[in-house]
Amino acid sequence: MTTKLQTDFIVRLASLPQFTPKVAAEAFDVGARKLRAHLHKLADAPGAWGADAAGEYWNDRESFFSIANWTSSFPLGTALLAWVQTEDEYFLNQALRLDPWYRRKVTEHAADTMHDLGFLYSLYSVAFFKLTGDRMHRETGLRAAELLAARSIPPAGYLQAWGRMDEYNPHFAGLAIIDCMMNLPLLYWAAEQTGERRFYDVAFRHAELTRLHFVRPDGSVCHAYRFDPASGLPMRAENACGHNVTSHWARGAAWAIYGFALSYKYTKAPEHLQTALKLARKFISHLDEEIVPLWDFRLPPGAEPLRDSSAASIAACGFDELLRHVPDESGLRKAKHALLARLCCPDYLDADESHPGLLRKGQIGDDVPGQARNVHTSWGDYFFMEALACELGSETKFW
Ligand code: GLY
Repeated sequence: MTTKLQTDFIVRLASLPQFTPKVAAEAFDVGARKLRAHLHKLADAPGAWGADAAGEYWNDRESFFSIANWTSSFPLGTALLAWVQTEDEYFLNQALRLDPWYRRKVTEHAADTMHDLGFLYSLYSVAFFKLTGDRMHRETGLRAAELLAARSIPPAGYLQAWGRMDEYNPHFAGLAIIDCMMNLPLLYWAAEQTGERRFYDVAFRHAELTRLHFVRPDGSVCHAYRFDPASGLPMRAENACGHNVTSHWARGAAWAIYGFALSYKYTKAPEHLQTALKLARKFISHLDEEIVPLWDFRLPPGAEPLRDSSAASIAACGFDELLRHVPDESGLRKAKHALLARLCCPDYLDADESHPGLLRKGQIGDDVPGQARNVHTSWGDYFFMEALACELGSETKFW
């Protein structure tokens, strides 16, 4: 059955500018130029650089060593993508200035780390190791993987979301979140590097629990899930980032699409591919004439229909990964190109070189009164640049 939304989406597809390599190259160039102008500020004063309404990421007050920092690597990963594309060593050298900070975070500050070690270290230490072969980065990446694996809670085997591991916090005990699917590639990489199966087992177990408890029969997902901390028995769906516990948070869905596609890349588990495809088809079925998704696909009537450009760019990367495994799924290719073409329009693409923020209209999380909305997000920018780099033929994937 074709729904109203799907019809709008299909009509809009016909009116979008063609997404050509030239369009991709121009957009990548905008992102690279903006980052080149401002990257030194992150190297001069390392911080989270996650989100800002004006695209001035240095205004994000989260410190580099804060346990809540999950975002510093997005501009740095973008810098490494830009280095590969442009061969301009400035990107490499500025990004390298953060190396002592990354090492200290997983040594001196190890207790203040959380589940997002994968975001931080796949796009920095693993990326540097893949690009340069320098074993110093391999050691740092493996140290991060060790800390992440230590968050696997027996007997169930989910990776605990948030919180230090050396203190009990009832908010976090037993809790896992959908975003964590994107942290698994760090563990799969560590298993490959060391030959130690335990890293693989931790990642695979977490992916399986996510598949069984987060993914609903209709292909939507919940944001969080609580297990009994002692017995490990599944308890209930919960929510921190979506609209509510029964809603369908678009960015969470995008994390799951890309996360399961990457889990399939490493494990070849057919159920991970099928899950990623099911989630992707559901995501596409919700796209309307704006193309860029609502920040939550199940907003109540009357809710402000805010979009999340970062969900669009993450989903585009997820579709790209899926297409490497199922090249005949032409709907995925059409949707990927539609998302990227829309993000390249001036409503979303911010070419102003006075700040590094690239994509307008990202969202942080739940619709908390007073929380910034329609922000630039460094994660949205990163995944946009990754998707563009893939369109331009880059084989480099840091995940
Ligand atoms: N922590 C990941 C997100 O907010 O999407």
